[in-house]
Amino acid sequence: MLKKILVTAVLIALPFGAAQASDDTPNGKKIYANNCASCHGADGTVSKFGKDLKPFPARNHRAMAQVVSRDEMRRIITYGVHGTGMRSKKYKLDPLQIEAVIDYIKTFHYKPNLANGKKRYKQVCISCHGVDGRGQTGLGATNLVYSKQDLKSIVHTMRHGRPGTMMKSNQHQLSNADINDIAHYLLSLRYNANFKNGAKIYAKNCKSCHATPKDIKLIGNAARKLTIADLSDQLLDLRIRHGRHIERAGKGITKLSSDSLKDLLAYIRQ
Ligand code: HEC
Ligand code: HEC
Ligand code: HEC
Repeated sequence: MLKKILVTAVLIALPFGAAQASDDTPNGKKIYANNCASCHGADGTVSKFGKDLKPFPARNHRAMAQVVSRDEMRRIITYGVHGTGMRSKKYKLDPLQIEAVIDYIKTFHYKPNLANGKKRYKQVCISCHGVDGRGQTGLGATNLVYSKQDLKSIVHTMRHGRPGTMMKSNQHQLSNADINDIAHYLLSLRYNANFKNGAKIYAKNCKSCHATPKDIKLIGNAARKLTIADLSDQLLDLRIRHGRHIERAGKGITKLSSDSLKDLLAYIRQ
């Protein structure tokens, strides 16, 4: 089986073999200089020619090298981006050469600018996500302060949006530097749950009825199938501050702030 795959791979690679140096590992830097630099700039920061391309300019590779997956790069390099200057037909790279060029792009680094991230966030995102990122604008936007997405997923969401929701793709509205800056800015807004504070809140508000977090039992049918570990923070919040629990624990429970609840959950999940 493996042999068959290898033979097929060689057959696919053959027609383009001529473009490759006699040394059998393709040189990504060279391929980049010969095929990509005219638009993307030798160092990945976009040439004058690349900036002037219509309808969309070439994009800065330095600012996306570490936050866009290899799979996505491979897809773009292989198929191009329809309706833009990014046309894969112009240069024909074989699969090994594409991997080499991605390896080369992956050597690029970028230093995020949080001040610009904040500025651009305010211009483009607050109408739905709110000034503080908590998304209390009534438009159903996710609370970004409590989000658990990592950098790459944030960038992916910004680049592609969430089909079927109000979260649209911002890829052509924002430069790659903006996207990178905003993503880092969002990480800086993250709420870091405070375990110690959670322990205090538990002792004060919960201990009288649930001696330890292990003693907490879910109400109703859920109790037969689920444990606390099966529920997301959001679902637990609903059960603690909003559901039938209020009748058992008393109205005081509704006064816990969302941040306190995050601390508390960090403790309960210990
Ligand atoms: C004729 C100009 C041109 C050449 C040559 C070119 N590109 Fe592009 N490239 C573009 C443009 C324009 C875009 C932006 C497409 C868009 O707006 O979605 C782009 C986008 C990309 C992207 C996606 C970047 C992003 O942030 O979405 C990658 C990856 C990429 N190019 C890689 C390459 C590689 C690798 C080569 C060389 C093998 C290359 N390009 C050659 C014009 C070019
Ligand atoms: C028109 C309203 C709107 C605007 C403007 C908007 N978003 Fe969103 N955003 C949403 C909605 C709605 C969701 C929830 C999508 C879903 O249900 O999956 C969302 C989800 C997200 C998520 C996913 C969070 C997670 O944990 O799943 C990120 C990240 C995000 N937005 C970032 C941004 C950034 C950055 C901007 C500005 C560049 C922006 N959004 C602009 C409406 C918006
Ligand atoms: C005055 C007593 C009381 C206090 C105080 C109290 N609870 Fe409860 N809680 C209950 C009772 C009773 C149940 C029902 C479970 C049972 O029947 O064993 C319950 C159930 C729950 C459930 C499951 C809810 C559901 O819908 O499945 C959670 C989670 C929970 N408590 C967490 C907490 C936390 C966290 C605190 C502190 C912030 C707290 N409770 C404070 C009495 C209390």
